[in-house]
Parts: sequence; C-alpha cells; structure tokens
Amino acid sequence: MVEVVRHDIVIVGGGGAGIRAAIAAVEADPKVTVALVSKVYPMRSHTVSAEGGAAAVVPGSDDSLDKHAYDTVKGSDFLADQDVVDYFVEQAPLELTRLEHWGCPWSRNDDGSVATRPFGGMQIPRTWYAADKVGFHMLHTLFQHCMRFDRIVRYDEYFVTKLLVDGGAVKGVAALDMREGKTRVVLGRAVILATGGAGKCFPFTTNGTIKTGDGMALAYRAGVGLKDMEFVQYHPTGLPGTGILITEASRGEGGYLINSEGERFLVTRDYGVGQKAELGPRDMISRAIMQEISAGRGIKGAYGEHVQLDLRHLGEAKIMKRLPFVRELSKTYAGVDPVHQPIPIRPVVHYMMGGVDTNVTGATDLPGLYAAGECASVSLNGANRLGSNSLTECLVFGARAAIEALKYARGTSEGNETALRRQGEEEMARIDALRGRKKGGERISQIRREMNLAMERGCGVYRDQASMQQTVAEVAQLKGRYADLALEDSSKVFNTEILTALELGNMLDVAETIAVAALARQESRGAHACRDYPTRNDQKFLHHLLVFFTPAGPRLEKKAVTITRFQPEERKY
Ligand code: FUM
Repeated sequence: MVEVVRHDIVIVGGGGAGIRAAIAAVEADPKVTVALVSKVYPMRSHTVSAEGGAAAVVPGSDDSLDKHAYDTVKGSDFLADQDVVDYFVEQAPLELTRLEHWGCPWSRNDDGSVATRPFGGMQIPRTWYAADKVGFHMLHTLFQHCMRFDRIVRYDEYFVTKLLVDGGAVKGVAALDMREGKTRVVLGRAVILATGGAGKCFPFTTNGTIKTGDGMALAYRAGVGLKDMEFVQYHPTGLPGTGILITEASRGEGGYLINSEGERFLVTRDYGVGQKAELGPRDMISRAIMQEISAGRGIKGAYGEHVQLDLRHLGEAKIMKRLPFVRELSKTYAGVDPVHQPIPIRPVVHYMMGGVDTNVTGATDLPGLYAAGECASVSLNGANRLGSNSLTECLVFGARAAIEALKYARGTSEGNETALRRQGEEEMARIDALRGRKKGGERISQIRREMNLAMERGCGVYRDQASMQQTVAEVAQLKGRYADLALEDSSKVFNTEILTALELGNMLDVAETIAVAALARQESRGAHACRDYPTRNDQKFLHHLLVFFTPAGPRLEKKAVTITRFQPEERKY
C-alpha cells in the first residue's frame, strides 16, 4: 500500500522560488506545515549556478520603479503584463534587502552602499551582485534560513510524477522516492510548482541536467495552459561545446564582443542596440552574433563557429575582483585565460520565458495549484526577459504564491483521502510497470538526441515556418516512439534510468508546446525571430498564446496582454 503523508502546503522544487515560498508560508502562519519536495538536494537546484546578479531599484539612487518597469516592458517586446511588472518592481528592493538580512553577502561600494552593475536592456545599473557567484550565495542564504523552521519538512530526491486532483482541485502529489524506489503520496490543500525551466529540451544549453520541464508537464497534463512557450531565450555568451554560461556581467563590467576581424560589431554595425552596444538585450545580441557568423565573420572552432568575448582591457585586478568565476570557467572549460586571451562564445539556450499560466498571485486556473519562478509564466518577461530579473522573480513571486496558497488552503477541504490514495496507487503501478520494462526497442538516449536536434533546427535563434512545421511533426512522432521505450534496470534504489525516462516524457510534452506555439506565432517579437514574418505584428499578435493538452494533440488559445501605462512602440535602443 502506498504511504501517505500530509502537510498544509506542498511545494515542488527546492530552488530559489521553492525555498522562498516555503519560508513565506511558515513565516506567515505559525501553525502551517510545508512539504518541500525536490528531485535533488536543494543546494543542487539550478538557482545555484546563476552568476551575474539580481535586479532591483536601490532605494535612494537615481533609479526609479518606473524606469525598472519601463525597461522590463520594453525588454519583453510589450508582451509583459504591466500589472505584474508593477508588482514586481515594487517588491524587488524589499526582497533583495530581506535576503541581505538573512545573510546574503551583496558586494558593496567603498562607502558601504549596495553595489550594482549594468545589465542588458536596463537604462541604469540596477543589478545587485555578489562577485559573479550570485546564485550560489542566494540559494545558500535561502537554504540556511529555511533550516530554521522545523515546519518545513524536506523530501529530498523525490521526483513528483503526478498532481493528485479531487473534486476539481489539486490536493497533493504522487512522488517517486529515489532512495527506495517507492511511490509515496504527499497531500496538501494547495500545491506550488517551482521546478524551474526546460532548457534540456535543447542540445546546447546553460541549464543543468535537471531542468527537464517537470512542473510544466505536470500542470499541462492536469489541464492547465502553458503560456508564451514559443519564447525561448538564447543567452549570447555560452562556451562552445559545454554551453557553460559566461555571465552577462562580463559585458556589464565592460567586456566587448568581437568577430574574426577583431571588430566590435555591436558598435560598428547596426543591430538595433544603438549606444547600448554589448549591453543591448539578449534577443538582439544573440541575433547579431548569428548574423556575424552567417556573414562569414565567425571563428571556426572544434564545436562550430563562434565569436569572442574580450575582457583583456579590464585587467587582472578587476577580473579577479568582479569576475573570478568567469576566469575560472574559461580556463577550465575553454582553455583560455581571459586576462590574456579572448573567450570563445556563441548563443546558448538559457531560459524559458514561457511556463505554467498564472495570474499575478501565482494562481493557475486549476483550484489549489500555484506556480512560481521559471516554471511559471506569470507574464513578467513576455517575449524576452532582461538579464537579472529572474533571480528576483523567484523571490517576489515565490513569496506571493505562498501567501495566496495559504489563503486558499485555509478555506478549502483536505479532499477525500481514500480517492487520493487510490490515485497514488495507480501511479505506483504505472511506475512499477515502467521500471525495467523490456517492451519495444526504443532507447532513451536516442529519442532525447532526436528531440534535441529537432528543437534546435526548428526553434533556434532564427526560425522559419518550414522547419518549425517539421519540428512539430518530429516531436509528435517521437512521442509515439516514446511509448515503445525499452528500459534495462529493474532495480529500485537510485534507479536513474527510470528517472531519465520520466524526465524525457516531460520534455517531449514541453517541447511539443514550444514548437506548436512557435509555429502559430506568425510574426517576429522578442526571442521569436521568424524569417517568414520578420516584423512585429501588433494588429494580429499582441496577445499571449496558451497551449492546452488534449488527447488529440495540443490546442491553442489566445489570452489578452495587460497594458496599462506603457503603450507598445518600436523597440529600439
Ligand atoms: O548572465 C548572467 O549572469 C545571467 C543572468 C540571468 O539570466 O538573469
């Protein structure tokens, strides 16, 4: 019989948004208990690898909430919901200050004030940082703080495979305890998804292996729409081969991008970034790099063509003070010392603007289900996120989702435990049947590889209708082949084969929503650059796209964008 545990709130994901949500819940209510369910030990969540910083207006500086809001809306190519943006910019300084009180070592100016650095698409330096290891320090601070509360009960290395729904509302999850290979039921009156993005749908990404779109797939299968999935962010500066991130802070600190002729092409050529040059937004800079390569000004390397990031003029002292991790990564993974040599870089999949459709409170349309962080699409980022807004997003909307989930939980029932247990048992039977299943001849690695290549071909920096159409067809076909997966390992303890099989199923669902939404958006906006429709078309496409699961395949719906004070205008820097 499946084991059942019960808490008030169940949080899935132990990264920045998940832990922030857990802390917010227990601080808001002295009685509440929270299950923090994570497929990895929380300090291994992908938040840990963030480098460059977190954006917020520094109170008392020349910056303003209006400026932060405008930059975010313009960066989103006018697809952000402006009520969401306003809430975000207002809460951002409070969250980053709170984190400092919990121990986050933000870098300082000589006078002791918080130091900020410029980031792409922002009109003023507003990115708070702790050298170039911001994710590590933020996650460490959150993790340490959450350990003060014994009412946050951790379920580490539990992989959630299903949302449990009773009477039309989410009442818990079924999760595979990786240590024992057993399915368990974790019940709660509300569930918050905070599982991060889905970069591993693509072959070349900054994302850790764990970012397989799990929360998105769980919500999608439960009938919740995924929003803005066509917008996949390519970060301009990844190391060829590994995809390891070389932080935008390198350009914030004054680094240049150069082509094979040693030319600073963002300054000498018109890529729409104007005076901002290397500090233009990510979508535009990624396209500029691809155009340089297409024009024959790329540099040939072992992993295809790239351009270079030049930090030499910054000098060793500044690099060691502000960008020590960049130096370490470049030496270890590219064999170059940026003090003396330029770093090879090319655009790399970094972030999903799309995710589980929520409103500003983090609530989905399915009662009892909330989402926050990269797995959610609260509509802060629209068609293109500005660098350093996402760490802050995890804090602001992680906390908000928890408060709303708590309010909801107080007024709702626990659900029918017998019915929920039965669903858990069905899920256990499904997983047990999959483990070591010999049926069919399809291999996980083969399907994953084909999915990765299809996604890169159809949903890259530049897209066209024919290749997107092909990707849609290929992913649908791969989903069919997935049903014939053959697994070898029937053991229970830390059976990573079954984990990768389940993750692949999640990625295939998410990949399909990306490709289907991309094909439907017949314009170019933000990160979606379609060669057949090279301009933005506000008449026809100034709206979000939602993708819903149906047994017959994905179904699309439009959703209005909330526009308050910033009217859409040409996006030029
Ligand atoms: O380049 C970076 O440090 C990435 C930051 C971000 O995605 O927000």
